[in-house]
Amino acid sequence: MPEPSRTSGARPDTVARTLLVALFVSLLCSSLVASAAILLKPRQVENAMVEMRRNILEVAGLWAPEAEVDELFESIEPRVIDLETGAYADDIDPEVYDPLAAAKVPAQSVEIPSEIDVAKVGRRAKHALVYLVRRDGEINRIILPISGYGLWSTLYGFLALEADGNTVSDITFYAHGETPGLGDFIVKPAWRELWRGKRTFDDSGALELRVVKGRVSADDPLADYHVDGVSGATLTGNGVSNIIKYWLGDHGYGPFLENIEAGESP
Ligand SMILES: Cc1cc2nc3c(=O)[nH]c(=O)nc-3n(C[C@H](O)[C@H](O)[C@H](O)COP(=O)(O)O)c2cc1C
Repeated sequence: MPEPSRTSGARPDTVARTLLVALFVSLLCSSLVASAAILLKPRQVENAMVEMRRNILEVAGLWAPEAEVDELFESIEPRVIDLETGAYADDIDPEVYDPLAAAKVPAQSVEIPSEIDVAKVGRRAKHALVYLVRRDGEINRIILPISGYGLWSTLYGFLALEADGNTVSDITFYAHGETPGLGDFIVKPAWRELWRGKRTFDDSGALELRVVKGRVSADDPLADYHVDGVSGATLTGNGVSNIIKYWLGDHGYGPFLENIEAGESP
């Protein structure tokens, strides 16, 4: 007598049931992932804000790891400026103004003429958000958001200047996509250290601050304005120079810095 088949008891709709279970599991998983993304979005936005504030505090020279970021940030004065005139635009609330979002709104932004768009920014907002540090009521440090193309990616950072608007106190990049071990030298503390005390404009008003190829030579007459590049990653360094050139130029923070120097933006 033949042995009964092991599968003889299997239900005929096995394939349909398997597909149904697979469909149910995939629907369940995708709704879990979607819910997690929606629920975690506010936390991500908050973390990004804290990280940006931490970077601002760092270039402001006010960062203290043991302290609360929000508490420390109270000593920073965010101000919106009109980039064309360099004047404060106090009708715009700095607490809610987002220049990166404004750059995408035609009425709130301008196209950068290609001949001056050395940092490949494309469009920029008409207004910028700058951060001031005061000592005894007087401006002590000016923190300017900067951005532009490196080799592979857009770099986002802050340049901090002393009250004279002509001396660098620090530079930081909080977002970039340059190659680890090559272009990411821009975030290394030792390289940032090289910027401290560098000058921006010479006596004739020409912008001379830039990253050079290789090391700044001891007999470079512009050594006070030049920062070492990194061998094998010259193109990211060139990107940083272009970012400085655009943002400290007439189409960037130039008018604001002139106002500061003239005492017109106290
Ligand atoms: C995979 C790969 C990644 C690279 N990443 C960078 C980078 O992030 N930044 C950079 O300036 N150069 C990078 N380079 C090197 C550039 O292509 C270029 O050779 C270099 O910037 C020139 O600098 P040098 O004249 O000092 O050699 C990379 C090269 C390769 C092959």
